[in-house]
Amino acid sequence: MTIRTRRLRRTDNLRRMVQETRLAATDLIAPLFVVPGRGIRKPIGSMPGVNQTSIDELIADCQRLYGLGVPAVILFGIPAHKDAVGSEAYAEHGIVQEAVRALKKALPDLVVITDVCLCEYTDHGHCGIIHDGEVLNDPTVQVLVREAVSHAKAGADMVAPSDMMDGRVAAIRAGLDAAGFEHIPIMAYSTKFASGYYGPFREAAESTPAFGDRRAYQMDPANRLEAIRESLIDEAEGADILMVKPALAYLDILRDIREVTRLPLAAYNVSGEYSMIKLAGQAGVIDGDRVMMETLIGMRRAGADLILTYFAEDAARLLKEGL
Ligand code: PBG
Ligand code: ZN
Repeated sequence: MTIRTRRLRRTDNLRRMVQETRLAATDLIAPLFVVPGRGIRKPIGSMPGVNQTSIDELIADCQRLYGLGVPAVILFGIPAHKDAVGSEAYAEHGIVQEAVRALKKALPDLVVITDVCLCEYTDHGHCGIIHDGEVLNDPTVQVLVREAVSHAKAGADMVAPSDMMDGRVAAIRAGLDAAGFEHIPIMAYSTKFASGYYGPFREAAESTPAFGDRRAYQMDPANRLEAIRESLIDEAEGADILMVKPALAYLDILRDIREVTRLPLAAYNVSGEYSMIKLAGQAGVIDGDRVMMETLIGMRRAGADLILTYFAEDAARLLKEGL
């Protein structure tokens, strides 16, 4: 007797019934880049469809996303001025702080997450404070705590440290609690690799390091056990959501971490992954929409509960149309 697995693949409805993994707009978090000014919408050349926007345009984008069922955004700020210690990162009227205030006013139910790091705010582009060519850990953590608390004061619903300093999740948790924000969760970029896939993001966030690279704080792509350990350390420090970043070359790591934690797990479908699919789609080399959906479901299947993705709007639109 032939074993006939094709029986359950015969019609659309049969296939839908036995589908093991699903993708919904509620799984998606849209990363957005906000700049000072008004009426600004500046396309990122290396990321077709992604823009730097001023706060007014940001609100319009978020209204569209929220209307499509995307519940959350994560904000990256590009400040007017950068300095050696990234002081705009924790300025009361900094670009992210102002954007959060405006967004929470316009869309009170939208979950506004803020990226907590210094690389967009430092003139050297590194994720921390530099001394003798090295990123100092503990002094950087102190600034990150100030940044996270200032985001919470502005009304952020969640903070997401992406710097990869040791001990920052515990320090931010303590800082938030001391400031009366014990109810604000931390989504830790808990396993973040030093990756070439961040290339286009650095144009979008204007955060390319002026010297060296990030290998002294981000992880070696070759390391699996260390990847699991990094996420478990952040869980022990009090993180509420863990993350693997990038996603596509690290689906095994997503699965590994999914199997050792009970926390929600996010995957960051990063800029280079987005651009490869977008540009190949525009060149007619692949069906961009189809490859986008296949990639996102692959991340879900690997173990991601949430996906940070520049495809959020495109994917939500297709899901709404019932692709
Ligand atoms: C900075 C940060 C980066 C990304 C998110 N936060 C870049 C980096 O570490 O160089 C990358 C996101 C992307 O490529 O989409 N801490
Ligand atoms: Zn950074």
